Amino acid sequence: MADSRLIVALDVHSMPDVRALVETLGDSVSYYKVGMELFYRVGAEVLTYLHDQGKSIFLDLKLHDIPNTVAEGLCSLMNLHADMLNVHASGGYEMMRTAVERVRGKAAQDGIPAPKLIAVTILTSIGGDDWKEMGFSQEIREQVIRFASLAKKAGMDGVVASPQEAVAIREVCGPDFLIVTPGIRPAGADINDQSRIATPSAALQNGASHLVVGRPIRAAKDPKAAAEAIIREMERV
Ligand code: C5P
Repeated sequence: MADSRLIVALDVHSMPDVRALVETLGDSVSYYKVGMELFYRVGAEVLTYLHDQGKSIFLDLKLHDIPNTVAEGLCSLMNLHADMLNVHASGGYEMMRTAVERVRGKAAQDGIPAPKLIAVTILTSIGGDDWKEMGFSQEIREQVIRFASLAKKAGMDGVVASPQEAVAIREVCGPDFLIVTPGIRPAGADINDQSRIATPSAALQNGASHLVVGRPIRAAKDPKAAAEAIIREMERV
């Protein structure tokens, strides 16, 4: 029943909460995202648990520092079974290129598959007003596409972007580039703090390869039913 294009955000704070959600969702969900709020509290234990459960893991720590620090930081995360890791594209071309080179080099040396490396473009919580307030004059969309092209040029496997920008990224970066989209809200769901959002089917139609969904599943009265409804909607596209 699981659809590996659906990644559920495990934004909880303890191992008992992780186990409860993963057990509730059972075979309906095969891919989980571990972000900083969980990883900084429980550390590697959560990845070992998910790996033992046969789940795929996106370790979403959004590294952002000078090229050597990011590349070494990623290499330090490589023994944790993550299938996907990420950095901020605003760290620049050289940072992304160095990350790709070192991570692939280490994977080859250790004889393990290289994790997918993706770049965060502009956070989906940032709307037009925030953007202007930060002093940027070009459109968010334009900058997202610029970051996506830069990530592709640096050899990254894909980007994290809003579903609203997926069409343009797909056009510019081609069919194999991963486009991981948070900001997914089924029709009628609470928007929370997200800004540039889309429904699951619209995100896929726009060219997303993976959907990251947190609160619409986690906060639902019946999380498994909510996940299955999203999967049914995805499979109709
Ligand atoms: O609860 P919700 O569905 O909004 O969760 C979205 C998840 O995706 C959160 O874990 C958030 O940190 C993450 N994310 C995001 N925007 C990005 C990158 C990651 O919302 N650009």
